[in-house]
Amino acid sequence: MKMISILARMNSCKFAHVSIAAYSIQSKTLAKPKTAIVMLNMGGPQTTDQVGEYLLRIMTDRDMIQLPVQSKLGPWIATRRTEEVKKKYSEIGGGSPILKWTNTQGRMLTEALDQMLPETAPHKHYVAFRYVPPFTEDAFQEIERDGVERAVIFSQYPQYSCATTGSSLNAIADFYRNREVPSGIKFSMIERWPTHPLLAKVFAERIKEKLQAFDSTIRNDVVILFTAHSLPLKAVSRGDTYPHEVAATVAATMSSLQVPNSYRLVWQSKVGPLPWLQPYTDEAIKAYAKQGRKHLILVPIAFVNEHIETLHELDIEYCDELAKEAGVQQIERVATPNDHPVFIAALADVVANHLKNGPRLSNQFLTRCPHCVSQRCLSSKSFFKKLIGI
Ligand code: FES
Repeated sequence: MKMISILARMNSCKFAHVSIAAYSIQSKTLAKPKTAIVMLNMGGPQTTDQVGEYLLRIMTDRDMIQLPVQSKLGPWIATRRTEEVKKKYSEIGGGSPILKWTNTQGRMLTEALDQMLPETAPHKHYVAFRYVPPFTEDAFQEIERDGVERAVIFSQYPQYSCATTGSSLNAIADFYRNREVPSGIKFSMIERWPTHPLLAKVFAERIKEKLQAFDSTIRNDVVILFTAHSLPLKAVSRGDTYPHEVAATVAATMSSLQVPNSYRLVWQSKVGPLPWLQPYTDEAIKAYAKQGRKHLILVPIAFVNEHIETLHELDIEYCDELAKEAGVQQIERVATPNDHPVFIAALADVVANHLKNGPRLSNQFLTRCPHCVSQRCLSSKSFFKKLIGI
């Protein structure tokens, strides 16, 4: 019943050409999948027992973070941070909801695609996480076992960064380094989609709902603070496209939202002593309170489902603790897209357009950052060119 009502809600959206019939089609099609949709993301620990391994994988991934003597310093930092991070996961219910949301999004997306594109159906989603199971390698093994005809590698980070999507793609290239690429599968890739109109619309809808929580007399004075994970300035100077792709999502959202409120883009979750992209979210909250702007909305703009940085950093550390200390009168946090029907329609529209019209690989991906010196990036780009047959 729940699935039927979700699909019925999606059906009212003009971009989602799905109907309740999709549910019955999906329930009938336990047949061999024809098209794989591989959903790339970083993942998060399901239980606190996975925290140590998760941190170790992040801290030793040179695409994600570059440390001196990384093979020694990385494990040392991971071990040192494990207890503190475990405590944070305990405070949000004992684990990350990323797997739950990705599976929900994947199921709803493939049901919509089965209805929209019968010629490439049945579609099946595969979760490919970088730092926790199900790992990227597991997803590709499963795709090969299932014997699909087509596989769409679909980044769940709408804005591309060499540290996130780039790292997942390098992991795919690593997987096939000493293994034969299956000749029967036609691969293609969606590595960025920061300005899709339905992505902007879902953020706008979420903000509109939250603005209602403010008294109508001050609603137009609420400052909208878009917040995204920060990036080391070294990566920005190298030419990573992430900051301007995040800014593009912000601009598209504001143009869809059509409200008079002022807004800013700020950056959260910096780690370590080196300089990162600023202004930092926590410092911006304090500074606005000092300026007398004491009504704020936080909008996580670069992640499509709830995770530790929204549930703990934004909700507990900033909205509950820091905002009170800073004298903020009211602060609200907008939910991430999760299973919002407009978001499922966005996913379906991005993939359906890709399957119908391509491109199978974008030129933007093939061009390296101007100051990239990574051999991994170099070899991974030529791997994908071959894999996708460009
Ligand atoms: Fe961006 Fe290598 S760091 S392509």
